[in-house]
Amino acid sequence: MASFCASKFLPGLLMLGLGLAVALASSTPTLSLLKDNLKVMNMPLGDWLHILATNFTNFVASQTLLTLTIFGVASFILRYLYQLFLKPLNLDRALGDVGYVLDGKKKRDVVNDIRRRRKSGDLPPIYPNGWIPLVASQDLVKGDVKYISAVGNEFAVYRGEDGEAYAVDAYCPHLGANMAIGGMVKGNCLTCPFHGWVFEGKEGKCVDIPYQEKGKSVPAQAKVKSWSVIEQNGFVLVWHDVEGREPSWFPENIEEEKWGKMYYHGTTKHTVCAHVEEISENGADCAHLTFVHGAFMGSGNDLRYMGSKLWSWASHSWGGKWEQDPDHKHVGVMTVYHAFSLFGMPIEVTRTESTARQNGPAHVLLSFSLPFGKATIAIGVTPIEPLTQIVTQHVYASRFIPRWLAKSFLYAEYVQFERDIMVWNYKTYQRKPLLVFEDRLISKHRRWYSQFFSENSPKFEDMKKTLDW
Ligand code: FES
Ligand SMILES: [Fe+2]
Repeated sequence: MASFCASKFLPGLLMLGLGLAVALASSTPTLSLLKDNLKVMNMPLGDWLHILATNFTNFVASQTLLTLTIFGVASFILRYLYQLFLKPLNLDRALGDVGYVLDGKKKRDVVNDIRRRRKSGDLPPIYPNGWIPLVASQDLVKGDVKYISAVGNEFAVYRGEDGEAYAVDAYCPHLGANMAIGGMVKGNCLTCPFHGWVFEGKEGKCVDIPYQEKGKSVPAQAKVKSWSVIEQNGFVLVWHDVEGREPSWFPENIEEEKWGKMYYHGTTKHTVCAHVEEISENGADCAHLTFVHGAFMGSGNDLRYMGSKLWSWASHSWGGKWEQDPDHKHVGVMTVYHAFSLFGMPIEVTRTESTARQNGPAHVLLSFSLPFGKATIAIGVTPIEPLTQIVTQHVYASRFIPRWLAKSFLYAEYVQFERDIMVWNYKTYQRKPLLVFEDRLISKHRRWYSQFFSENSPKFEDMKKTLDW
């Protein structure tokens, strides 16, 4: 708690101190006060403090307006600089915050209305097999337990005293309490809040029933389902496979030999109403880049204002390609070419090439290479309902990329991403889309993504849930 308070208030106190220092230092009375004080170096401390307090009070009384103005401006600038250079980007958009046309109506009403009215289309199975990000690593501290609903399962995800993340079925096999709601982490085990049964996280075995008679052992069948967990690229991921197969591949790591350690610079979170595959499919849909992402970032995230004249002098030029990694069939690779354009002319020095490596159905590493380092946005898609995903994006950068630059990559990414959200929130899924030759990568991507579904993958019709928010 102490460290929380310190981290919360320290920047404010620093700014207050610096603001006052700037205000005082810039005033003539302060300078004369210092001169006077130099003459009286031999004074006792009490007299010193008295002079200081008297001068300060006189100064504040005589120049209140000037002081407040300078203090206000200095605080504002310092706060801005602090946010830009030192603080990680942190943005959490809930369902309905972006991507809906509210027109003065209540957010909740609009979201519920659109979700109910929307024709879902002939959807692919709703939850893919593979490594699924459940929670951002930083949101699961030691001793913490979280209730996560994803891929049609209810998980209790917790971090043991050993620092490891564990995921077990949330429902206790005894009488069905949800162990993530009120359950306690003890050592590396999770204790059920209802009758205190204790489960270890690796195998899911019950290791203690506290009210059992002394000498009796815990029944062997007292077990909760435990899930294979890895923690990588800022996410706790579980292996989800409806056929019960063991992991056949693992996600790549953001850290590579060339640039060494990658440093964390921020996170964004969005709730999106779409099928999980549609988010991935965006990576193979090169034609949409110009139409959705072509308008300059200043135009914002609302598709209705992309044609704004205010920003018509600037735009983004895009090109791209998508292919399956020839050596890793679970990896899809999108290469994106980008340049800023002024009055329709691309500016050569702004040309960049970035690569999005889709590591399975729900995790992407989007990397930007610079001559002096690399920035990577690690994206995790958590399917919480058939047509609702939480998309979390962490930005990391190598040593020589400053925080403000790393954050600018994530900023640009999420503004553009919010335009996609507006399309997804309202669209239907076309099982047999009307594609032209230039759209062929979409078909290719669908074939690639189908490897993450299997015979027993759940269908939308079987698992239709209420779409009320
Ligand atoms: S329901 Fe969990 S211990 Fe009884
Ligand atoms: Fe897009």
